[in-house]
Amino acid sequence: MSEPAYDLVIRGGTVATACDVMEADLGIRGEEVVAIGRQLGPGRREIDAGGRLVLPGGVDPHCHVEQLSANGLLNADTWESATTAAAFGGTTTIISFAAQHVGMRLRDVVADYHRRAERGAVVDYSFHMILADPTEETLKEDVPELVATGHASLKVFMTYDRLRVDDEKLLDVLWAARQNRAFVCVHAENHGMISWMGKRFLERGLLAPKYHPASHPRVSEAEAFDRLGAAARMLDQPVMVFHVSTKEGAAAIRRMRGEGIKIFAETCPQYLFMTAADLDKPGLDGAKWMCSPPVREREDQEAIWRALELGDLQVISSDHAPYRLDETGKFSAGPNPTFKQIANGMPGVELRLPVLFDAMVSKGRLGLQRFVELTSTAPARIYNLPGKGSIAVGHDADLAIWNPDREVTIADGTTHDLSGYTPYAGRTVRGWPETVISRGRVLVEDGALKAEPGSGRFLAREAGEAARPLGRPSAEVALLLD
Ligand code: URP
Ligand code: ZN
Ligand code: ZN
Repeated sequence: MSEPAYDLVIRGGTVATACDVMEADLGIRGEEVVAIGRQLGPGRREIDAGGRLVLPGGVDPHCHVEQLSANGLLNADTWESATTAAAFGGTTTIISFAAQHVGMRLRDVVADYHRRAERGAVVDYSFHMILADPTEETLKEDVPELVATGHASLKVFMTYDRLRVDDEKLLDVLWAARQNRAFVCVHAENHGMISWMGKRFLERGLLAPKYHPASHPRVSEAEAFDRLGAAARMLDQPVMVFHVSTKEGAAAIRRMRGEGIKIFAETCPQYLFMTAADLDKPGLDGAKWMCSPPVREREDQEAIWRALELGDLQVISSDHAPYRLDETGKFSAGPNPTFKQIANGMPGVELRLPVLFDAMVSKGRLGLQRFVELTSTAPARIYNLPGKGSIAVGHDADLAIWNPDREVTIADGTTHDLSGYTPYAGRTVRGWPETVISRGRVLVEDGALKAEPGSGRFLAREAGEAARPLGRPSAEVALLLD
């Protein structure tokens, strides 16, 4: 008897990518898809995908994992718990952060995050390097060395007391990125406006979580987008704007793209499914829905859906930032914190795909192929993860097999991160990723994790096409290039 041609055959499913939907079997050998066809020969192992959708594993390019945050707290998750949650939610690649704080040597920070990820990750991963202290040493020594070893994206914050860079430092970072061919991701909000509003709410005794959204005035987002866009245009450096939350922010992105600025943008499920009213709860319960930028209003949700439809926004990430509802997390300042003392962020890596599948596929908003594109294909392309984000011969066999008819009512305690709650509790979604495969190995099956911590792999990334400058810095800056 001859050897089976494949290690694994996924038989009889509906295979969907960002461009095609087909009835096909997938043949997998080792870590790769090696055949897409009808009636493929036998595999050592076979999975019956009849009545199921076979989709590329999700790529979530914005997850905070075991990260020291703006307020000095460590996220609730370990690499093992966050990537286990990712796997259960159908996500097979994440991009997390190596977060420098003031005074830290960037190369040591990156080495430390690598050590943690190597121990715990069950899905593949890469890093954006957060620059909170862009000193000469950071920019001239560490950034070139680290970009050359596969860390081709930088991240900066324009707000948060301990992390933010001012306009001049923002230019320093964009310039270093241009010189080293790296991409730059930005948390763009106007720090002064947020700080000014926060102080006035506190002076008036308006302390509850429900004041958090209004303390980030809407204009604080679009103003920062415009300032970032002006800097990006001046230096001709491509940028990614993280977590668009307002209709004005989406409009600013559309206008700047129309003006020829190479600016990309993401949003997150919380800005599509939640509003400021979610924070208006008795006591401190609203803290569960506190993130920055804050969730907004229904008309913002509609504007963001439209911006996704038009292609102004290209990516839906989770911005997974889990904190427990106790003294180790959200309430580290004591039992009666003001909204300014509560850590920002919510868990999301596991439910990103199910809540979006329900809206986009089951309920039909934008449809199956745009679901795959926004949550997998586009992030893989923009952040340059070859072999990820699609299903093709020669690609990594990173797959999620979805039961499109399974209904799940989300509840606290059913997700796998360590925050201890989910902001989606009580919602029922239709469609669930039942079997999840990473590089040909089954990660999740029959509700159980099958992979070992540490089996995820670091994905070294060069900057891709998205990070390539257009070639036209401002005339003044061009003088610096001569
Ligand atoms: O509230 C959030 N999103 N916390 C995580 C840090 C960030 O702002 O990205
Ligand atoms: Zn952010
Ligand atoms: Zn974030």
